[in-house]
Amino acid sequence: FDAVDVIRTKRDRRELTDDQVDWVVDAYTRGAVDQEQMAALAMAILLNGMSRPEVARWTAAMIASGERMDFSGLSRPTTDKHSTGGVGDKITLPLAPLVASFGVAVPQLSGRGLGHTGGTLDKLESIPGWRASLTGDELMAQLEDVGAVICAAGAGLAPADKKLYALRDVTGTVESVPLIASSIMSKKIAEGTGALVLDVKVGSGAFMKDLDTARELARTMVDLGTDAGVRTVALLTDMATPLGRAAGNALEVRESLDVLAGSGPEDVVELTVALAVEMLAGAGRPTPEAEVRAALGDGRAMDVWRRMIAAQGGDPDAPLPVAAHRQDVVADRSGVLGALDAYAVGVAAWRLGAGRSRREDPVQAGAGVELHAKPGDEVTAGQPLLTLHTDTPERFDRARAALDGAWSVGDEAAAGRGPLLLDRVG
Ligand code: URA
Repeated sequence: FDAVDVIRTKRDRRELTDDQVDWVVDAYTRGAVDQEQMAALAMAILLNGMSRPEVARWTAAMIASGERMDFSGLSRPTTDKHSTGGVGDKITLPLAPLVASFGVAVPQLSGRGLGHTGGTLDKLESIPGWRASLTGDELMAQLEDVGAVICAAGAGLAPADKKLYALRDVTGTVESVPLIASSIMSKKIAEGTGALVLDVKVGSGAFMKDLDTARELARTMVDLGTDAGVRTVALLTDMATPLGRAAGNALEVRESLDVLAGSGPEDVVELTVALAVEMLAGAGRPTPEAEVRAALGDGRAMDVWRRMIAAQGGDPDAPLPVAAHRQDVVADRSGVLGALDAYAVGVAAWRLGAGRSRREDPVQAGAGVELHAKPGDEVTAGQPLLTLHTDTPERFDRARAALDGAWSVGDEAAAGRGPLLLDRVG
């Protein structure tokens, strides 16, 4: 095979053969296909798409590039969820312990933030002592004992995706349905979960800005999972405005603790409960919504959270880091908050130090954006709408610039927010 032939095939809108796909993914992982060749192929895929059989083969080749995990020795069924990424999306934090409190195992292999979306591991690392890396044996033991694990995916899981995702990130080739679907599903299928719930985000803060493309992504991923023997469903959920009232690492852990204590913002609770209901059904433990909600109110989910954090070296009682500096953004008039753009808030949190521009950058635990009002809320002139948090005050100006035009206050309540749950694909 020749890399240039493979690139030309896709460039000229023809289908790649199974052998071409197997060869190019393997050769790229081994370093026999160059970065610039894979960048050209990724752009051809982004522009010309892939057929269902091509995506399935591409996904299988990425799985075959590394190891597969096996949870069949556990006494509990496994179930997992994956979000395509959003702003203020801390749902994994309350969700994993909540679902585990019903006797199922939740192996959440998570990532770090890049660009304007936060990373689950970055959030948890704001808890003193907590560590993201576990050995395979530690992971299995914690799944059996505690039921919930949130940790870093080992280097052996879909290494083709690790290399390709980093390349896509710097070549403008992230926003492609076949490339996103194969990236996410190769990791989830290799992880070996029995059931999977996908939270496909739609709106300014998400990769998918419109409902039709998000539906196509959801359908592609659900088919890939189902064909691989993973019981897979997808919820399409709104990401036009941030989830909850905080975007940033320690700020989001604090909000998750509120949810685990039976309070917290209603949108975060609603989505956590909806995803938990789907995860439990997928694991063969159908549970009514009211019962799931009750486990947030009566301390069962909090109990699993504390054991999960402690098992990974964290102190669940330690005070969370707080940023050294704060500034408010205030309402310019009285009225109803019409919009508060998720992407802008994500960029502001990133610029304040909550996110990173390069993979090796450190993040600030205390940095981020706190929201005092959500779309549809009444506000009065001079009232703080947002509080910006950072350890490095020279970052305030760039964060404020990101928020220019990101919110509006009007007279009409009608401009308030639409539903959170947009569709279900299963
Ligand atoms: N998340 C992933 O893991 N891969 C993508 O391509 C996009 C989001």
